[in-house]
Amino acid sequence: MSAMNGVPTLQLASESWDSDADEILVCQAVREETHDVKTFMLKPLSPRRFSYQPGQFMTYSFEIGGETIHRCYTISAAPTRPDTISLTVKRVPNGPVSNWLHDNLKPGVRLKALGPMGDFTCFSHPAARYLFLSGGSGITPLMSMARTFHDLADPKDIVFVHSARTSADIIFRDELEMMARLNPNFRFAPVVEAVTPHAPSSGLRGRLSTPMLSLIAPDFLTREIFVCGPAPYMAAVRAMLEAAGFDMKRYHEESFNFAELTKSEQSEVLVAEVAENLDVPVKTFKVEFTKTRRSIEVPENMFVLEAAKRAGMRLPSSCTQGMCGTCKSKKVSGSVDMTHQGGIRQREIDAGMVLLCCSKPTSDLVIER
Ligand SMILES: Cc1cc2nc3c(=O)[nH]c(=O)nc-3n(C[C@H](O)[C@H](O)[C@H](O)COP(=O)(O)OP(=O)(O)OC[C@H]3O[C@@H](n4cnc5c(N)ncnc54)[C@H](O)[C@@H]3O)c2cc1C
Ligand code: FES
Repeated sequence: MSAMNGVPTLQLASESWDSDADEILVCQAVREETHDVKTFMLKPLSPRRFSYQPGQFMTYSFEIGGETIHRCYTISAAPTRPDTISLTVKRVPNGPVSNWLHDNLKPGVRLKALGPMGDFTCFSHPAARYLFLSGGSGITPLMSMARTFHDLADPKDIVFVHSARTSADIIFRDELEMMARLNPNFRFAPVVEAVTPHAPSSGLRGRLSTPMLSLIAPDFLTREIFVCGPAPYMAAVRAMLEAAGFDMKRYHEESFNFAELTKSEQSEVLVAEVAENLDVPVKTFKVEFTKTRRSIEVPENMFVLEAAKRAGMRLPSSCTQGMCGTCKSKKVSGSVDMTHQGGIRQREIDAGMVLLCCSKPTSDLVIER
């Protein structure tokens, strides 16, 4: 870094962040959003420009209590400001990583990250009118989208509805109100569930309902809808929109817990089950796990993680779609057919790592787990 009169000069990045080669991010600043939500601004160790689509996430790995733990966090910043990224994290009671971040991630602390990845983005679904519905920390991908349109001075008509417990829990409130003040095409409607003495009435009260939504956005049936929030919130929104006759092809949602199996995985599992039930001979391979000293038989058409789960093993996993990197393990010997979606780098594959959630055995295997 060059210096002028002893003061370091500012330098914007000219090189791009390459997920295959770059992984270290340094915390630059911490911002308190609410009593239990913080935003962490991160910068690559060497200046790099990020290129991503608003709504995408990164997977971070943490060393906590002698263990490596992976978690995904949406990039709450906008790609229009490419030199830094940010994650906005809500403290989850007893959650190891969210509490570690709140208590330990300070300027200067380094993190390892993989990504960006994910396909929850308005860029894949261009529309003239959007409706963003968020609950709690599910606001982050929608905030990235709103910030992007705002920075681009894009005239899209956006209604941004955010449901929070009380008005003290509304994340990014000042910024969303500022966007609404500056842009007549952007409307912000906070909805609060409860009123407390610390957080007096503000915005609409209650849970999001069809009459409430009709009041906020009478034309909601004509909009492209993006939703992110806790599972019960998203289930309620889905049911509400279906009942209102919304064309669900224009409905897009992101879950923060990857709980559901994808259709393709279900069909893989099904193939194995149908074969089992029909007594069709299915070739199996022996998979040995060195640390847990377990050995299981895995059908050739089943992912190793799925087979291990069925055998009662508890291996780390999150997305089960080859995206997040949580199930990354060292393959000591043998070969697999792996169909990942960005959750592993080429150099890691070259070094013998595999993602167990999306790898089918093509020979006997020894895995370091
Ligand atoms: C694609 C993706 C993007 C994500 N983006 C964000 C984000 O922008 N901001 C953010 O705060 N989190 C986000 N998460 C959730 C995040 O990865 C962690 O799960 C969360 O921080 C809790 O981690 P933990 O280790 O503290 O607790 P965990 O051990 O993971 O969770 C403890 C318990 O809390 C539940 N839980 C997890 N997250 C929440 C939550 N946000 N609110 C209430 N209960 C929860 C879990 O289901 C579990 O039962 C995202 C997850 C995914 C998959
Ligand atoms: S569990 Fe996410 S990549 Fe395997």
